[in-house]
Amino acid sequence: MKSRYGDKFNHDDEAHEYDAHVLQEEIPYRAGYAQLLGWVAGQVNARHCRRVLDLGTGTGNLSNLIQAGEIVGVDNSGKMLAIAREKLGGRNYELIQTDLLQYFESPPEPFDAIVSTYTVHHLTPEEKQILIQTCHEALHPAGIMVFGDLMYSTEEDQQRINAQYRTEGLSAMVDEAEDEYYWIHDRDLAVLRELGYEVDLKQFSTLAWTVTAHRRLT
Ligand SMILES: C[S@@+](CC[C@H](N)C(=O)[O-])C[C@H]1O[C@@H](n2cnc3c(N)ncnc32)[C@H](O)[C@@H]1O
Repeated sequence: MKSRYGDKFNHDDEAHEYDAHVLQEEIPYRAGYAQLLGWVAGQVNARHCRRVLDLGTGTGNLSNLIQAGEIVGVDNSGKMLAIAREKLGGRNYELIQTDLLQYFESPPEPFDAIVSTYTVHHLTPEEKQILIQTCHEALHPAGIMVFGDLMYSTEEDQQRINAQYRTEGLSAMVDEAEDEYYWIHDRDLAVLRELGYEVDLKQFSTLAWTVTAHRRLT
């Protein structure tokens, strides 16, 4: 199964300017970017993982911070992955150009950690559920998932925050956000709890959050 808007959100056209753009943390959806990536990598590095999967690797900014026996990166943009390849030189990595959902069609060897930053908001709510289910199946029982992305707590918060941005003259940015699928905790995290995960949330800016999911092992 391929994600519905994978071609639309493929970053080939942005690849040449992506790394400069993420430095512009004064833009609300970029605020907290560097701190969030560092924190996600820290969660993984503390566990001394053998195999780590980075979904939506992009230019490799997160993978580059991760220490693991092997890093597998998946992204549908060949141009983003070409930049990642330069950064990861000398490391044990595999970069795979494909759609996030399609990647799991041939079940991969299990991972100790599955991470993703600023990517899963390109999947619809239904696709997020499918992705989480497939990540669960691809994870060692003691493994973790860490998602860092653009999120709201509730639909009410989404409306309140976006209305505030519009009053600040940021309507174009809000229009763009409304064309994507920022996570909504109330709606999108239930599946993790149903699968038996403890879910921890951490906020890095108004829009940037991490979701860390550990399995409750009995
Ligand atoms: C905003 S970038 C994030 C890159 C990186 N993880 C980071 O934190 O800087 C999103 C990446 O996801 C990729 N992407 C978007 N939708 C995708 C999909 N359905 N399948 C695979 N990659 C996808 C884009 O090509 C892009 O490289």
